[in-house]
Amino acid sequence: MALTAVRLLDDEALERSSVVANNAMNRERGLDGVNSYARDLGLHPLDRLRPRLAEHGAAAWLDLCCGQGRALVEAAGQAPDGLEIVGVDLVGHFDQRAYALNGGLTLVTASIAQWQPDRAFDLITCVHGLHYVGDKLGVLARALTWLSPGGTFAAHLDLASIRLADGAPAARLVRRLLREAGVAYDARRRIVTRTGPTVLDLPLEYAGADDQAGPNYTGQPAVDSYYRPLRTGTRPDPVPVPRRSVVVDDQGVRVGHGTWTFEADWDELSSAALSRIVFTPADVDHLELDIDVTWGEFTTVSSDADGFTEAVAEFARRWGRPAPDLTTLDPADGHIVVWQRPDE
Ligand SMILES: C[S@@+](CC[C@H](N)C(=O)[O-])C[C@H]1O[C@@H](n2cnc3c(N)ncnc32)[C@H](O)[C@@H]1O
Repeated sequence: MALTAVRLLDDEALERSSVVANNAMNRERGLDGVNSYARDLGLHPLDRLRPRLAEHGAAAWLDLCCGQGRALVEAAGQAPDGLEIVGVDLVGHFDQRAYALNGGLTLVTASIAQWQPDRAFDLITCVHGLHYVGDKLGVLARALTWLSPGGTFAAHLDLASIRLADGAPAARLVRRLLREAGVAYDARRRIVTRTGPTVLDLPLEYAGADDQAGPNYTGQPAVDSYYRPLRTGTRPDPVPVPRRSVVVDDQGVRVGHGTWTFEADWDELSSAALSRIVFTPADVDHLELDIDVTWGEFTTVSSDADGFTEAVAEFARRWGRPAPDLTTLDPADGHIVVWQRPDE
């Protein structure tokens, strides 16, 4: 898809779009239960905040794109004294119970594209909010600077909705850039997480948003975000990291990285897939092997890891297929499965 085929919107036009200001979206998640923050984030906000409260007597939670603020109202009703909660949403239709609370909860009507807090937070969440934001990576970068030391960040982010200015998908590139910047991405839950504040300086410049991208994985129409590759020439030399190693044998797979190891037996492995990633502005050009396990986690091994070629060959041999030619792999080939559980 060429950029000329897509009409990119600025923030003002986007925030007036029926895709963003629409009543059909789920703005009513509670704190826990079926339709809830605890369930969709895979973490209970109060469980994250209680140790802070116990230690410091105070803690703060910021929820971006808070919708009606139901989860926040429920948390404020249950939380011990000392918990400060702030919710921000473009639409000021908040849960009426918020107005009966006696302090502790502030609900702000503003766009998170511009809003700026005046304090740090121990927990920052954004539950299915970035799907409707133009500069998703810019909001992410700003919000990561608002964390207190040791604070938790968790936000839904659909990497499939991030594209380069020529329309090319940028999911794998962004996933890699985030990982290199110390920001974790859970591809199954589509959640970006981080502990402690950081400056996220990605070589990408926001170009605009497409509100006609159609439904995303939630089934609701969402917004695609476009970025131009940016070469500043000021990126510092990378700090040498311990080399990874990967071994595939009768037991399963073992990945080592310094003192960190990832181990999975054959009955725990789900699939292994190979891809080539090229992004010239960030000097990225290598092969990656994504190894998925049955309980939903994955690990990625780059082609500079010791044993990479042998591991790919061993996966393919055990799957009964020829190993792909690593020298001719093209980024456009996407994910090439080299092994898959027989029942998948
Ligand atoms: C799917 S709802 C989720 C609401 C809430 N987090 C929940 O789970 O119940 C997405 C929310 O993002 C808000 N939103 C969209 N763009 C925004 C922006 N630029 N700034 C602040 N809120 C925004 C919408 O108004 C909507 O309430």
